[in-house]
Amino acid sequence: MTMLTPSNIVPLYNNFFMPSYIWPCFPSTSRKEQGSYIPGRLHKDVKYVVAMTGASGIPYGIRLLQSLKGEKMLVMSDMAKRILEMESDMSVSDVEAMADIVFDDHDMFASIASGSYKFDGMIICPCSESSLGKIAAGIADTLITRAATVCLKEGHPLIIVPRETPLSQTMIENELRVSKAGGVILPASPGFYSKPKTVDDMLDFVVGKILDRLGQENEKFKRWK
Ligand SMILES: Cc1cc2nc3c(=O)[nH]c(=O)nc-3n(C[C@H](O)[C@H](O)[C@H](O)COP(=O)(O)O)c2cc1C
Repeated sequence: MTMLTPSNIVPLYNNFFMPSYIWPCFPSTSRKEQGSYIPGRLHKDVKYVVAMTGASGIPYGIRLLQSLKGEKMLVMSDMAKRILEMESDMSVSDVEAMADIVFDDHDMFASIASGSYKFDGMIICPCSESSLGKIAAGIADTLITRAATVCLKEGHPLIIVPRETPLSQTMIENELRVSKAGGVILPASPGFYSKPKTVDDMLDFVVGKILDRLGQENEKFKRWK
């Protein structure tokens, strides 16, 4: 009997996991439909929306763009662009150059605003509590919040990386609401058991967790043995 260990459990969809040795028994539920990692499918075949909103922690989003495999469709909110200038030496165009496609957050006619457009998931990193609150309430008045709503209704993986502290009760309830709707709340809270020496180490910890959740193999942080 094969043991169930973290290395042989594969993400099926959001909060649901399945042992990898059982997976081939369920060919009818394609992972393409579920929008998660597909064994044997090349990373270049997957496409993700990477969104950045106006929370502190823009460097997490930049590191994600540098690390994520597959096609990257980038959307930055106006506030994300302004906070980028404060938190990084990079310009908006430097960051946009890391993506394959760039959308304007005001362009509600963009492909990713439609449920009929196929993509493999979305990561909002960092995610402001304002955008998170809108997603929790089903408000879709920007491309980012609309694409997130599309993920929830279509069952695409949605990973939200909030950065705020302390949290009000409203914020906690919003996070719970999105989690119950199928989103993954993955706070930007790096661990210290790997003894990070640099800010880069801390960025890699959080980004490694995001990649893990998407089923992308990575060695971005030291794993507990
Ligand atoms: C310098 C600065 C830092 C901010 N940091 C955060 C933050 O860490 N978390 C957060 O939820 N909001 C933060 N905000 C507030 C958001 O930027 C604000 O709520 C904005 O409306 C978010 O819009 P967006 O989600 O469309 O980007 C910050 C604002 C400023 C000016």
